[in-house]
Amino acid sequence: MLSGIRPTGFLHLGNYFGAMRNFVRMQNEFNCYFFVANWHSLTTHPDTQFLKKSVNRVIAENIACGLNPDQVALYVQSDVPEIAELYLYLNMLAYKGELEKTVTFKEKARMQPDNINAGLLTYPVLQAADILIHRAVKVPVGKDQEQNLEMARNFAERFNHRYGEVFPLPYGFNYGGELVKILGLDGEGKMSKSENQLSTLYLADDDETIRKKIAKAKTDQGPATENAVKPDYIENLFTLMKLVSSEATFTKFLDDYNNSYEGKCLIRYGDLKKQLAEDMIAFIGPIRDKAADLQSNPDHLKKIIQQGAEKARASASETLRLVKKAVGTD
Ligand code: TRP
Repeated sequence: MLSGIRPTGFLHLGNYFGAMRNFVRMQNEFNCYFFVANWHSLTTHPDTQFLKKSVNRVIAENIACGLNPDQVALYVQSDVPEIAELYLYLNMLAYKGELEKTVTFKEKARMQPDNINAGLLTYPVLQAADILIHRAVKVPVGKDQEQNLEMARNFAERFNHRYGEVFPLPYGFNYGGELVKILGLDGEGKMSKSENQLSTLYLADDDETIRKKIAKAKTDQGPATENAVKPDYIENLFTLMKLVSSEATFTKFLDDYNNSYEGKCLIRYGDLKKQLAEDMIAFIGPIRDKAADLQSNPDHLKKIIQQGAEKARASASETLRLVKKAVGTD
């Protein structure tokens, strides 16, 4: 099992419920590799001033969320040079045409027309190297990564076909059921590591910031009829409440909503937001404090990162040995 997170900003509630919460569960069931994709972040975030800090924060936040670095391999991509070497081999199997066609490439090229670099074009090749270097099969990622995963499978198949069977084919893995979808507090789009910051709840936000952001969340006059369909931004507040508040609290506000209609508005969004803010603080607070604690001890964090690199390199060098033997560069 393997997954990666780009250190392009602050981790948020969407990352927690979409990814990290599942990682924590998976660590008890599978042989897990989790890493911070700092090479990947260079394709879109060439300003590296905050890169190191960001990498440390992502590692600390993952541990604060419950990942146990003694149990999984938790490492930084650039600490594993074997990935770069495999990337080189895989690049010979990747065609310009297919790379240019990927949705993420086209999107990113549109967003940064002055920096359409080769790294951006070969992003899926590096991602395939990340996965194949451990011969990982289960890759827990969101829907937006399906195409990258499909390309990883293609490169693995081509390699096996040309040089002999080395790689099992990786596939997307998630626990059954729908992934929770968390929108920004303005109800428009997803929470984001680097954009839309006032509508995103970050795992590093302090109590006052959490209160302020939730107080500003978009609401309206209230439902016009009983059991009204909720607009996205209201549904989202209930989704958040379901995740962090008690069952009783959630049910009370839901009942208030369902029993409201024009002229008799039982649901008070002000009260809902106040309650949600306090429950959110109780949820985020301990994660934030533990992550801050870890970051305030750089020596300890460094040891954890080194330990992760050692585990990752042990597995990676074995794969690379097989690759070189197959290609004839051993
Ligand atoms: N591309 C992924 C993202 O943007 C991050 C990533 C890089 C990744 N390498 C990976 C995810 C390998 C899974 C496996 O979210």
